[in-house]
Order: sequence, then C-alpha cells, then structure tokens
Amino acid sequence: RATGALAGRHVLITSGPTHEPIDPVRYIANRSSGKQGHAIAAAAAAAGARVTLVSGPVSLPDPPGVTVVHVETARQMLAAAEAALPADIAVFAAAVADWRTADAAGQKMKKDGSGTPALALVENPDILATIARLPAGRRPGLVVGFAAETENVIAYATAKRARKGCDWIVANDVSQSGEVPGGVMGGDSNAVYLVAAEGVEHWPMAAKSEVARRLVARIVEAVGPIAQE
Ligand code: C5P
Repeated sequence: RATGALAGRHVLITSGPTHEPIDPVRYIANRSSGKQGHAIAAAAAAAGARVTLVSGPVSLPDPPGVTVVHVETARQMLAAAEAALPADIAVFAAAVADWRTADAAGQKMKKDGSGTPALALVENPDILATIARLPAGRRPGLVVGFAAETENVIAYATAKRARKGCDWIVANDVSQSGEVPGGVMGGDSNAVYLVAAEGVEHWPMAAKSEVARRLVARIVEAVGPIAQE
C-alpha cells in the first residue's frame, strides 16, 4: 500500500503541447516542453498519489511510478482525461492548441503551383473548463488550471479562474522580459502566482521541480489526509 501524504488519492495531470494535424506530415503546435506538468506528476507520485498523466507529444521520459497516457490532439487529450476519472485532484498543465484544422487532409498537401492553401480552423474543446464544470461527484474535488501570460498576469489569471470554473490558477509570465531570465518556455525554471479564492501568493523563481513540490505541498494542505478506519 502506498504511503505518503497523498496515499489513496488519484491525481489526474495533463502536460505538454497538443499536435493538431494539417495533413499526415504537418501539424499546428506550440512551444510547451511538458517540463512543468511532468514535474508535478513526479512530485505527486513521490507524495504517494496514484497518478494518471495525460501527455501530449514531448521529448521527456515517462516519470517513474506514473500511469502515462500518450495522446496527440486536444480531442484525444479530453477523451483520455475523461476516461481517467474519477480523480480527487486534477491539474491541467498542458498547453492545449486553441484551434485545430477544420479538415485535416488525408494525403500530403502538394506544392503543385495551384496556389497557397488556406487553413480553416475550428476551436478545440476546453479540457480544463469541461472537467471543472462537471457535476459534483464527478468533478474532482480540487481542480487546478495554468495560465501563461505575457502581461497583466494576476488580473488575467483571476478572470480565467472564474471563467473556467476551477479552484486555483497557477499563473506565470512567459514573456522574455518576465522574472525568469531567458524565459519560462522550454527552460528549467519558473516563477508563478497561485491564484485562489482566498487570495494570491507569489512564488519567486525556482526550479520547475521545486515549483512542482511546492504545488503538491499546497494540494496536501488543501485536501488533507484520508481518514484512517
Ligand atoms: O485559456 P487558456 O489556454 O489560457 O487556459 C489555460 C488553462 O486551460 C491551462 O490549465 C490549460 O491546460 C487549460 N486548457 C485546456 N484546454 C484547452 C485550453 C486550455 O485544458 N483547450
């Protein structure tokens, strides 16, 4: 039997980017490395939780002691997250592509002189909002979202928390002029604000692994131990 402050808890985590196909060889994506989400999965497992990590395409190894479901697209990520329920805690660290192509081509698009193709896009489902808005009982007791911003970090994160229906937002400044020299995306450091109903905490720059441990420690405080019978 697992020991640790999260023993007996199931934690669902999304991490990494999604890839939205244009044709069999091309896709739309973003700069997420998955480092922060994978670090949270590792920290939750180290605290004794049963962890399901739904990961988009990343070049990171699967964290030890974690059940990893590998997906490519936002729709696959939503399906895998829903299939992983019930969960006590859910942390949505993935950088999901906001849009996918309306119609991915079945064959490689050719540069055949007939002009430049136009990409028609449609909106992807919002995985965080979908799961945060599930009815009580099916909704994880603690739902945590992320917000990557380049300005007005706290104001945007506060609005995002309300809009998505989640309990906490972990917000960071991903601009080049932010607190982390060289930027957050792809790097090993992060500096965040934890935005909750009770207020806002600033966590100054630290290794992503340290931010993950700190978030897991806050989760432990919030959910408490499972009563022993
Ligand atoms: O709206 P925005 O992308 O800024 O929100 C970021 C938060 O929402 C992150 O926690 C991200 O994982 C989640 N999200 C999601 N599905 C989407 C878009 C964002 O789960 N389609």
